This record gives sequence, C-alpha cells and structure tokens, in this order.
Amino acid sequence: MQRHETLDLEDFEALLHRAATMIADRVERIGPRAEGPVVHPATFDELAALIPSDWPEHGAGAQAVLDDVARCIEPYATRIGHPRFLAWITTSPAPAGTLGDIVCTGLNQAPLSFKGGPAATVLEHVVIGWLARLFGLPEAGDGPDGADIADKADGPGGTIVSGGTMANLMGLTVARHAHFPEAATKGLAGIGRTPVLYVSDQGHMSIERSAVLLGLGADNVRGVPSDSDNRMDVAALRAAIAADKAAGLAPFCVVAQAGSVTTGAVDPLPDIADVCASEGLWFHVDAAYGGAAMLTDKGRALLAGIDRADSICVDPHKWFFIPLECGVTLFRSKAQQIATFRARASYLGEENPHDLKNTTFILSRANRALKVWFAFRTYGRDRLRRIVTRNMELARQFRDLCAASPEWRVLAPVQLSIACARYVPQGDGWTEEQVDRLQVHLLERLEASGEGFLTPAMVRGRAGVRLCVANHRTSETDIRLLFDLMTSFGRELAAQGPQA
Ligand SMILES: Cc1ncc(COP(=O)(O)O)c(C=O)c1O
Repeated sequence: MQRHETLDLEDFEALLHRAATMIADRVERIGPRAEGPVVHPATFDELAALIPSDWPEHGAGAQAVLDDVARCIEPYATRIGHPRFLAWITTSPAPAGTLGDIVCTGLNQAPLSFKGGPAATVLEHVVIGWLARLFGLPEAGDGPDGADIADKADGPGGTIVSGGTMANLMGLTVARHAHFPEAATKGLAGIGRTPVLYVSDQGHMSIERSAVLLGLGADNVRGVPSDSDNRMDVAALRAAIAADKAAGLAPFCVVAQAGSVTTGAVDPLPDIADVCASEGLWFHVDAAYGGAAMLTDKGRALLAGIDRADSICVDPHKWFFIPLECGVTLFRSKAQQIATFRARASYLGEENPHDLKNTTFILSRANRALKVWFAFRTYGRDRLRRIVTRNMELARQFRDLCAASPEWRVLAPVQLSIACARYVPQGDGWTEEQVDRLQVHLLERLEASGEGFLTPAMVRGRAGVRLCVANHRTSETDIRLLFDLMTSFGRELAAQGPQA
C-alpha cells in the first residue's frame, strides 16, 4: 500500500528522550547546583548572528534542530529557576508543573467544547473549584432543571487564561457587562453615561490597559492615593466616588490590589468591599501575585475580605510556581460570566453545559489546567504552604539586614514576600537623584557578576532595589549572599562618586 506523506517523525521517542534529558540536566544545573550566570550577557545582535534564521526549502531534521537548541538557545536562556533570580514576579517553575505542561502539549486537547477535550474540561472545572474554595467564594448550587445554561450555572465560575493581564481584562469585561449590558449590543455610546473605575495609585498597569481595551478610556480610571504603607486610602476612594457621582458620571467598579506589583501591598479589602456594597459597585481583586498567600494563616488574615469579591485575578504562574503561562479569573457568579461570554455558532456543534467556550473570550485554548492539577496533586497544599511561608520569611530577612545597616534604607513594609531597599552611600555630596541612579548601576553590577538578578523599584518617588522572593529554591544563604554582594558593589560604586 502506498503511504502518503505526513509530518510524523520515525525516531520520535528517541527525540523526546533527548529533549527530556536536556530539560532535566538544565533543571539540575540551574536549580540544585545554582550555576550561573543568572542572565547571560549576550546581546540581541550576538544571538541573532548565532541562531539559524533561514527557513529551509528542505528540512534539516529534528536531531539537527535539537543540536541547534543545545548549541545556541539553551545556554543563553535566562536561568529563571535559579535561587537568586528574584526579578519582577517571575517565579521558579515547579518541576511537577513542567511535567504537566509537557503532557499537556503531548495530549494537545482542544477543550473549547467538551468533545474537544472531555478530561481537559473536567480538569479546568476541578482547578477552578479548588481556587474558588481557597478564596472562600460561595459554593455552587444547581439552577433549575432544564434552565438555560447561563441560569443553571449558579455559583462561582472561572476561567484559565494566559496570565494576570488577561485575567484582569476578563474580570473587568464581566464587570462592564454586568453593569452596562447594553454596551454589548449598542456599544459604549449606548450606555449614555461615563463609566468610571477605581484602583489605587499602586495598581498594576493591566487595569488601565483593560480600561483602554474595553473602551472605557484611561481618563476614567481614577488612581486613588495610597497611604504610607502603599495601601489604598479608602476615605479618598469614597470622596472620589462621591465627586464622580455628583458630576453625573457612572462609577461601576473598584479594583483592589492583594499584593501590589511594586511592594506587595495588600489594600484594606473589607473596607473596600463595604464601599462596593453600599455604592453598588463591582469588587474586583487583583491577587495575581498575592493570591497564593491564602495557603497560609498569615496570608489569609492579610487577605481577609477577598471572599466578598465579584471577581478575582490570580496567577498560578506566579507564586504557585506553575510554568508560564497560566492565569485565572474567578467569578462569584458563573451566570454573570457566561452571560458575558456565551459563544453560539452552528459550526461549534452541539452545546454541553460544561463547554469552556462559554467561559471566556477565546475559543482554541491549551489545557492549562493539566499542569496546575499535576503540580497541586504532586506537592499537596502543605508543601506549597511551607514554601510560600519561607518566601515571606526570606523577604523579611533581607529587610532586617537592610534595617540593621547604615548603608541601606528600607523603602516599604514587607507585607508578603517583596522587599524594597535603597543603598545609601556614606558621606556627603550625593543628591537624591544621584542616589537614585546608583541603584540602577548597582543592579547592573549584580547582573554582570552573574550571581543574581533583581529588578528596580520606585517607591514614593525614590529608587531602590527590589527582591521578589517567590522562588522555591531560595535559601537564607542566598539572601545573605545577595545582601553582602550588593553592599560591596554599593561601596565600590560609591567610591567612584556620583555617575551619570
Ligand atoms: C498585581 C499584578 N497584576 C497583574 C499582573 C500581570 O500579570 P501577567 O504578567 O501574568 O500578565 C502582575 C504582574 O506582575 C501583577 O503583579
């Protein structure tokens, strides 16, 4: 029988083994052995000259391409799982999550509808259920038999998306639909009023970006002042809402931060929930980073009130250590979620009440729930809880080291696992702006040493270094090493005097 050509690879299993060996070796080198450099110094042009860029007419074969990966991609890949990679909120992936991700790619399900991924659909419901329960959202109750899908789904809902930016967009999309359903048919002009949303001046940029995408306009996002602990000033929130109402505008949503991106500040959630309840506003909580703290007693106390949210953004790919990409939006009311995203088209086939196509804006999607399910079941809540607790302690360790040194100034309280501090050269002759620039040079010096990678922070107008300890491999020794290294780099730079 004549065989037609396909894209199958004869030595697929051997190739998979080779790729798996490469991944396992890398995890061993950057994780337990902590090999650097944490960030490779190669420039874009140097890498572009190295990485094959021709799309050949005749294929090179997968072994040759794997050779390329081993030669000019893997060695230059940033060592994100390294114990001293504490930049942004980009966390060390848990190997069990990597396993789940590999299986996810191999199974390649299409759970837009139940038939495209039956087990994948169930997994997403399971993971959303776990997280909804973690945040204390009220349990689901079944709607009346035979009711429309949207009515039947009475209880919390959620969706798994690419990350926190998308998760915030999904939350605010449902908020807009719940308050201004006419926008779906008539467009924003059909609302006839100007919707306004509120977030503290510490809010993540994705809130304003969502407002732009949703047609609400950046000018209608009120940056509510924060207090000296970087938490939303609720009296200022009340005043802003009253002023907007008096001006004939239509306040509809407050976004609270539960772990702000710069300092990890948690807004006063119960007070904000009260304002939302009395003013009839949607309560969205951005817990993209801080949500994992709910695993711990301390975190649950800090985030008390989150169970009153209408929607919550939480990123498994942040402090739950799931490999990129994975964000989640939870909704108090699945009915409101489905009313916003219900997808009907003849080519989608028969509807199943559990179809994921009705839970978010996109259709084709990966089965991201698999890697979360895999990791959460592998480690259990207790192991994750211990890691998250240790991360909080390590951020405090860095803060304490800085507080005890005349050369460092702590810039913000540590509420979760982010610490911000400013190296202050001893002696006169430095302006605050020159000290601001010194922080940038200090971070560059640390990066060049290959020993660690941190990102900067601007806290209440002053620059500093920022450690986001959301890393399951970081130890007390790593924190001490980073502190000692940065102190000695600070001294070196200070000795050179103010730089441009
Ligand atoms: C509080 C907060 N919200 C949203 C985001 C956006 O998440 P992502 O980078 O996954 O889009 C971040 C990212 O750091 C964040 O810290």
